[in-house]
Amino acid sequence: MRVSREPVYVYRRRRLGATVAVMVVGTLAGFGSAELASRVLGTDEPAVAALVTSPAAGTTPASSTPASSTPDPSPTPEATAEATVSAAATPEPSTTPEPAFDLAAFSVDDPDSPWVVVNKRRPLDPADYAPADLVDVTGVPGGATMREEAAAAMQGLYRAAEEAGAAFSITTGYRDRGLQQYLYDGYVAESGKDAADRFSARPGYSEHQTGLAVDIRAGGCELQQCFADTAAGLYVAEHAWEHGFIIRYPEGAEDVTGYIYEPWHLRYVGARLAAHMHEEGIATLEELFSLKAAPEYG
Ligand code: DAL
Ligand code: ZN
Repeated sequence: MRVSREPVYVYRRRRLGATVAVMVVGTLAGFGSAELASRVLGTDEPAVAALVTSPAAGTTPASSTPASSTPDPSPTPEATAEATVSAAATPEPSTTPEPAFDLAAFSVDDPDSPWVVVNKRRPLDPADYAPADLVDVTGVPGGATMREEAAAAMQGLYRAAEEAGAAFSITTGYRDRGLQQYLYDGYVAESGKDAADRFSARPGYSEHQTGLAVDIRAGGCELQQCFADTAAGLYVAEHAWEHGFIIRYPEGAEDVTGYIYEPWHLRYVGARLAAHMHEEGIATLEELFSLKAAPEYG
């Protein structure tokens, strides 16, 4: 039985040194057999979901500095002030409240923003957006391109995961609009539109087009919910936030995000925001920024 067969176009590109056309052919071949929808839609992983949606036991306290050299989005004057207040901790008890986290520090609309929110109600604008600072994610098996800051963070996450015995490979990072169109059309042809819309974004609506999202695989689990039970899946569920990533499509949030549980899909938001979400136990960007839920297009 095949355990892994589909979007391995980036993987194929790396191995073969081939062109995007070859990637597409490789992906097409993957569409040939039938189980993707049932495989992707099939399994519940409540134990892992608990790790994703609630503060993880035994981790570094969320209020401490994330254990990473991952660069964070450039601080605004407000953010800098916040950092200064935190760093200048005085031994005297203080009644001065901590400044509230500034949720307006970066745009949620600008596709160049590390906090951009893309979902079924929030397409990329412009629809053919492409990041200007894409780089190769070196040092991580599988490889990909991502925006520079996200790539550096991914390298840090990978090193930490590997050290912990939880290595993984990248299946795909940045995808341009044309490739997303191709993938979505293939899923629709294979599984039907209703099923495809639950796990694949339409072109112009995918976070992968921002250069801030990445799909990872391990233990023979690629784009399957069994990834959550692998060492890598458990590791990223607990530690991705320390490197500025969130599990963007947590279990039980399809009515908010529009997508089924995708324990393999990580979204870079920067270390400060990821730590804030972890600390507050807020699992989705829609809830964090008080945006409309996006179960459907429109
Ligand atoms: N799988 C996610 C939703 C995407 O296609 O962008
Ligand atoms: Zn993804």
